Amino acid sequence: MHGKLIVGNWKMNGSLSANQELVRQIAEGLSDASCRAAVCVPSVYLSQVQQLAASGHLLWGAQDVSAHEQGAFTGEVSAAMLREFGVRFAIVGHSERRQYHGETDALVATKAQRALAAGITPIVCVGETLQEREAGHTESVVKRQLAAVIQTNGHCISEIVVAYEPVWAIGTGKTASPEQAQQVHALLRAQLKAATEQSQRIPLLYGGSMNAANAASLLAQNDIDGGLIGGASLKAADFLSIIAAASP
Ligand code: PGA
Repeated sequence: MHGKLIVGNWKMNGSLSANQELVRQIAEGLSDASCRAAVCVPSVYLSQVQQLAASGHLLWGAQDVSAHEQGAFTGEVSAAMLREFGVRFAIVGHSERRQYHGETDALVATKAQRALAAGITPIVCVGETLQEREAGHTESVVKRQLAAVIQTNGHCISEIVVAYEPVWAIGTGKTASPEQAQQVHALLRAQLKAATEQSQRIPLLYGGSMNAANAASLLAQNDIDGGLIGGASLKAADFLSIIAAASP
C-alpha cells in the first residue's frame, strides 16, 4: 500500500459554477504531502473537472460505467469514453445503483472488468442493509458481492479498490463504529488474500457518513486504507479535513 486514498462521490450534485469553486478550493488545499485524493463526478462534468484538475494533485473519476463495450445502449457511457477524459477511477456497484437500478452482483463484476480493460481502476462497493445486519448476514452478503468480482476478474483483482459501505450508514449520519468497520474490512482483506498474493496493494475504503469529525478514528484502523465520501465531499473544507486526517 502506498498511503491512504480519499475519494469524493458527488452523486447527482453540482453545476458548472459550483464545481469550478469546489475543485479550485480542493486543488489549492492539496500539497505534495497530501494523500492520494480523487473526486467521482457526474459524467457530463468530466471534461470540466479534467480541465480544472489536470495540472494538480487531484485525480478524478466516474460514478458508474457501462457493462457493454459499445453499441446500441442508449444512455450508457463506456469505459473507453471515460478514459478519453483522463478518468482514473470508476465507482461500480454503489448501493444506490444496486437498489434503484437493479444492478446484480454479476453485472457489477462485468462493469469492473470493463473498467480494468480500459485502464480505469474500479472502486467496487459492497455493503449490507440494516435488515441484513440485524439478521446476522453481514459477512455472507459482503463476501458474496466481492466473490462475484473476484471470480470474473481473476488475477486482475489486484488492480481494484474495494469500498465497504454499509447501506444503513450512507447519507444517514449513522457511521459504522471504527470497530464495526474494521471487523468487516478484516473479512474482506482475508477474502482478497485468498484470491491474490497481491492483496496488500488493494486499498480498502470505508464509506458511509464519514466526515471531518470521525475520519481520523476510522482511518486509524488496521485495514481501513481510505474513505469514499458522499455528503462531506461537497464542501471543500470538510473534504480537505478528511484528506488531512488521511495524510502522513
Ligand atoms: P455519505 O455517502 O458519505 O453521504 O454517507 C457515501 C457514499 O454513498 O459513497
